[in-house]
Amino acid sequence: MNKAELIHSTIEYVRKTLSGAEGGHDWWHVFRVWNTARKIAETEDVDLLVVELGALLHDIADSKFHGGDESIGPRMAGEFLSSLNLPEGTIFHVQQIIKNISFKGGKEARQFSSPELDVVQDADRLDAMGAIGIARTFNFGGHKNREIYNPEIPPDFNMDKEAYKSSAAPTLNHFYEKLLLLKDLMNTSTGRKMAQTRHDFMLKFLDEFYREWEGN
Ligand code: ADP
Ligand code: NI
Repeated sequence: MNKAELIHSTIEYVRKTLSGAEGGHDWWHVFRVWNTARKIAETEDVDLLVVELGALLHDIADSKFHGGDESIGPRMAGEFLSSLNLPEGTIFHVQQIIKNISFKGGKEARQFSSPELDVVQDADRLDAMGAIGIARTFNFGGHKNREIYNPEIPPDFNMDKEAYKSSAAPTLNHFYEKLLLLKDLMNTSTGRKMAQTRHDFMLKFLDEFYREWEGN
């Protein structure tokens, strides 16, 4: 298979596997991350095939929709990529990207590093920010039947990985517990620039939200 055919087969596999997924973690999230990753990759010295496969497969089986099991995603991706007869090194690298991309409260040290992971992680983080990030966040809160905002429940800044995963706090808290922290976690300079614009938009949204909450 040439590169275009590999990407095409991967897209088909991802679309099929994610049909019916929650709206913030569906094919269109993957599509945006793939596009953004390719854009960031233009200014980075990376293996583009690994970046594209990593972006396309990064949410193939998100642990929070699979009873917390973090091994399913890398395993499914590994099985799929083996069926395409890709080299072991490429398969291993893509699996490492899937394993290490997640935020999980931002307090866990990364177990693996590569410029390709840097690019895909930035692209995934950018999709959690800005107008799209806001839309995804409220979609997720609605999916979990959470309150939009509750002034009596303040954000918790000291959650470890387990507390972060099991939190059922109002959706607005997620801005303080994750979304507003992302701009300082970017890996690449292109990603950092894009993150600043999206960060500023979220701050504007929050200002307006509280203004309206107070009846103004
Ligand atoms: P990560 O795996 O990097 O921790 P997630 O997949 O948990 O990232 O988050 C992706 C997006 O899903 C978030 O940016 C947000 O839009 C939504 N989301 C995840 N957890 C929550 C939450 N507790 N409240 C609201 N939205 C959430
Ligand atoms: Ni993602």
